[in-house]
Amino acid sequence: MSENSANIGVVGLAVMGSNLARNLASREGNTVAVYNRSRAKTDELVTEHPEAGFVPAFSYEEFAASLQKPRTAVIMVKAGRATDAVIESLVEVFEPGDIIVDGGNALFTDTIRREKAVRETGINFVGMGVSGGEEGALRGPSIMPGGSDESWVTLGPILTSIAAVAEGEPCVTHVGHNGAGHFVKMVHNGIEYADMQLIAEAYDLIRRGTGKTPAQIADVFAEWNRGELESYLIEITAEVLRQVDADTQKPLVDVILDQAGAKGTGAWTVQTALSLGVPVSGIAEATFARSLSSHAEQREVSRGLPGPADDAQSNWTVEDPEAFIEKIRLALYASKIVAYSQGFDEIRAGAAEYDWKIDLGAVSKIWRGGCIIRAQFLNRIAEAYDTETELPVLLTAPYFVEALQRAQAAWREVVATSARVGIPAPAFSSSLAYYDGLRADRLPAALIQGQRDFFGAHTYKRIDKDGTFHTLWSGDRSEIEAEDTH
Ligand SMILES: NC(=O)c1ccc[n+]([C@@H]2O[C@H](COP(=O)([O-])OP(=O)(O)OC[C@H]3O[C@@H](n4cnc5c(N)ncnc54)[C@H](OP(=O)(O)O)[C@@H]3O)[C@@H](O)[C@H]2O)c1
Repeated sequence: MSENSANIGVVGLAVMGSNLARNLASREGNTVAVYNRSRAKTDELVTEHPEAGFVPAFSYEEFAASLQKPRTAVIMVKAGRATDAVIESLVEVFEPGDIIVDGGNALFTDTIRREKAVRETGINFVGMGVSGGEEGALRGPSIMPGGSDESWVTLGPILTSIAAVAEGEPCVTHVGHNGAGHFVKMVHNGIEYADMQLIAEAYDLIRRGTGKTPAQIADVFAEWNRGELESYLIEITAEVLRQVDADTQKPLVDVILDQAGAKGTGAWTVQTALSLGVPVSGIAEATFARSLSSHAEQREVSRGLPGPADDAQSNWTVEDPEAFIEKIRLALYASKIVAYSQGFDEIRAGAAEYDWKIDLGAVSKIWRGGCIIRAQFLNRIAEAYDTETELPVLLTAPYFVEALQRAQAAWREVVATSARVGIPAPAFSSSLAYYDGLRADRLPAALIQGQRDFFGAHTYKRIDKDGTFHTLWSGDRSEIEAEDTH
């Protein structure tokens, strides 16, 4: 170990940490100190990558001593208690002005708590969302740092050097203070859930409606990837569908157990949205669809439940497969617009609640490369926010209105067909219901207000005069002015 020789350090050398450390080491001017709780990972990384010129440390003291001041360390350990344990150890050996960065998938409220606690020691704490999986960490992820402006001065150039580049621009921006980075990363993952579920529903409808094989559907997705749906998720869907299982020679997708896992960020996005009062129905349906799929026992006892009366499901095929596929494409695009619009809504609401100044256009730009939801489409979102920074509903931007207009008939037909033949398409149908709710002149919420006033004297407002009112339901049913109790 050589003293003060590294300008940045990484703690936690599992797949993400070691790849991020290699990425950092590969950039001009960086010398990277590395530390892992158990020594074996450090030894392995340093031995396997002599070209990186790592400075290995085997204690937190050595790690701190190997770093130039202000010391900057990125933690990449299992999110949760491990993160707290590492922070505690680093705080003991770091000094005021140093920077601790948590690059794990922390819950943003934990990041807010940690930032507050660490700040009291004079050390800077930055919660940083990193997307792109292990490949992204190595070659260039999309990076969503929060934390103070002061930390960004030191961190900005380093992160800019390792981030993915999209259309010449680095996929990193200082998202906002304290937990803003992890908040935005959480919503990114929520949108990813919705996008994946929509793609899965599109695949299912095409397969069952046209009888095409997974390999043939792979061609459909590859074709879609050349148009407005171009994205990493569409691209890898084609790859997965084309894969043949070596053991059985069947399409791999047919031998994979149909129970989707989840690591919790989708659920966090939905829980947070519920607290903020933001309807992220596409993300919620996608998260619930994964839960439903993994309830094997419930699915088993429910298999024999009645379906469409005329056996429509088992006999269903479409007359014109190519026309049907185009309708699915349009429905997918429209539903995707809804999912992203809802996700950006959640970021806006989070920013208002936690007092962050988040540039939504900049967020959409840093998602164009490196991350799982990278897509052409994000340019359109950036344009929408560039034109109107405070756009209240993303899908009302002219470009999206045109796309939604084009998709109207197809979207409705796809949702209606799925209901008629009994094929679940929760993300397609909830996106459409949200869209219709949003554009409705009047909603039956008026009736709900009446019901609430009836059983709980919760009061209501009127459309024709100011004030708050209550009907004396158990009295003479006349209306009185009342205190606003919501
Ligand atoms: N995998 C992905 O695609 C991905 C993408 C984005 C973000 N992330 C996030 O990146 C972080 C790292 O992910 P990963 O998959 O590389 O690793 P991981 O499996 O989540 O965590 C393993 C690492 O955590 C360390 N660790 C566990 N408990 C510890 C403790 N009490 N004290 C110190 N170190 C401890 C382990 O050290 P030992 O070797 O000593 O056990 C090991 O280095 C996670 O927060 C993850 O959510 C992952």
